Amino acid sequence: MESSDAARRIRSLQAQLESDSNTVCIMFPGRNLQYLTGFYEEPTERHFLFFVPADRAPIALVPELSAADFNSAAPWVDDIRTWTDEEGPQTALSAALDVLAPDRILLDDTMWARFTQDIRTHYPEATYGLASEALTALRICKDATEIDALEHAGQTADTAMNAIRSLGSDAIGMTEVELARRIETELVEAGGTGTAFETIVGSGPNGARPHHTSGDRAIRPGEPVVLDFGTRVDGYPSDQTRTIAFDGEPTDRVCAVHEVVKEAQAAAIDAIEPGVTAESIDRAAREVIEAAGYGDRFIHRTGHGVGLDVHEAPDIVAGNERKLEPGMVFSVEPGIYLPDEFGIRIEDLVVVTDDGAMRLNRTDRGL
Ligand code: CO
Repeated sequence: MESSDAARRIRSLQAQLESDSNTVCIMFPGRNLQYLTGFYEEPTERHFLFFVPADRAPIALVPELSAADFNSAAPWVDDIRTWTDEEGPQTALSAALDVLAPDRILLDDTMWARFTQDIRTHYPEATYGLASEALTALRICKDATEIDALEHAGQTADTAMNAIRSLGSDAIGMTEVELARRIETELVEAGGTGTAFETIVGSGPNGARPHHTSGDRAIRPGEPVVLDFGTRVDGYPSDQTRTIAFDGEPTDRVCAVHEVVKEAQAAAIDAIEPGVTAESIDRAAREVIEAAGYGDRFIHRTGHGVGLDVHEAPDIVAGNERKLEPGMVFSVEPGIYLPDEFGIRIEDLVVVTDDGAMRLNRTDRGL
């Protein structure tokens, strides 16, 4: 990440904090810290905290063994306070809190309880809230660099989806796990890094469970198979679902339900434009499914925002009156789930544009 991008994001966060006097946002290794600094590592039991006060430069409290990596990712952070295993983090933590003396502390939503508890014990005099109070407003609309990465990730997923669809009858007899491993190989060959979430292959009745864990059931002719997978490019994920019958003739019922889901997805995407509410997009998909008589079998929200996190704001769900703005990126993924029979889901990521929506996935949506 360019230092100028980081500086702009830190300034935007500070602007969000200014209305509250003396508020400090405290980040933890994860997507919020990555968004602000470009640095990403898995969280560990060691204290790694990044303090962003409203009106002064950030302070990083970093375990000695991560200091070089953090410094090369974020060389613009001047106030880095390292601590060794021998010293422990407590003295440095107290010193940072004392120098900032916040009235209000916003904690990273993903921070582990052992650290939130420790901060509260050190500093009981502040009031506490969540970093999302300030950060969601920044992260919800993607800048050009982010949209570029999301587009590349979408293309990578498309390449893998096309390769999997072209397996045709070769997929018959493969187990769900075997097909999932094959998908993951295709994603990496297409230029992605790892998986963005656990690959879902739900064959036949297993497709009726939206988050089915791929197992050893073998794929049969004529049955629909739900394929939901993603990878990352430049840190940003893809998330696409297709439901495919690899060979043989699907039943009329499978074809009819698939058609309803496809229409519901198209109706939702057609409804997207700046100024309409997130819940109106959910409604557009749900009305098609309700009219076909499957309203009670569409058992989840229509979509979720996607950025550095695979699931972030905005939720495309009843009750979310947030208005859509250009630069928001979210999934549109209606589904119909018939227990013990089959499931159908079709999912694309879209970017809200000045006058509508642009799909980030362009593969065949047919059965
Ligand atoms: Co999704």
